[in-house]
Amino acid sequence: MDIVEIYHLKKYFWEGVRQIKALDGIDLAIEKGRLTAITGASGSGKTTLLNTIGGLYRPTQGEVWVDGINLGELSEEQLTVFRRRKVGFVFQDYNLIPELTVRENILFPLALDGLRTDEVFFREIVGLLGLEPRLGAYSYELSGGERQCAAIARALITRPSIILADEPTGSLDVRSGQNVAGVLKMAVEVFRQTVVMVTHNLEAAQVAERVVGMKDGRADD
Ligand SMILES: Nc1ncnc2c1ncn2[C@@H]1O[C@H](COP(=O)(O)OP(=O)(O)OP(=O)(O)O)[C@@H](O)[C@H]1O
Ligand SMILES: [Mg+2]
Repeated sequence: MDIVEIYHLKKYFWEGVRQIKALDGIDLAIEKGRLTAITGASGSGKTTLLNTIGGLYRPTQGEVWVDGINLGELSEEQLTVFRRRKVGFVFQDYNLIPELTVRENILFPLALDGLRTDEVFFREIVGLLGLEPRLGAYSYELSGGERQCAAIARALITRPSIILADEPTGSLDVRSGQNVAGVLKMAVEVFRQTVVMVTHNLEAAQVAERVVGMKDGRADD
């Protein structure tokens, strides 16, 4: 089953009078329960594609369906709820909240939605990601790799339809990067998550079951 279906997607930006064709006609389907990597040169449109799947950008043209939802039919408010409930975002710079402990950061998306903690699932995630000893720590006390693991745990906790990771290993050394890529793969294998990961890192891309290459706003695979 395809969890993402993209039809004739175009996304243009304007810089003054210059039109930038960040996405220039993409047709792509992404299968549920797999780890897909997106690679390509800087400026080829990887982040734009990921953000459009995640409902952060609206297409200039074309359709994006995620888990049976046509994003083009959602109001701004519905799109906000879609992002909160259906998408787990993982960024290069972790985006942890510095005032919160690791435990509080991981549970933050549930708190935002007024949902109770599933303590069993929480323990399962932190156990698997090796975060148990660090739950009371603040992000400045963590290594980069630990921060990214906490961010991945935060993405997993809502059981989203899809996890979108933009250069999740981009700020890490090779070894921590491999570990983080391994954690994303584990999310797919253990929790049957769907993960789409943008990466420049060939070793990180190796954990993927499929690699989609981007060039000048187009995708080939
Ligand atoms: N918000 C924006 N406003 C204007 N132009 C943008 C915006 N976002 C992206 N672009 C342009 O769209 C093109 C694709 O950008 P995008 O960030 O998707 O590339 P990328 O493949 O993620 O690159 P990188 O590997 O450097 O992160 C680039 O030419 C970029 O300058
Ligand atoms: Mg990018």
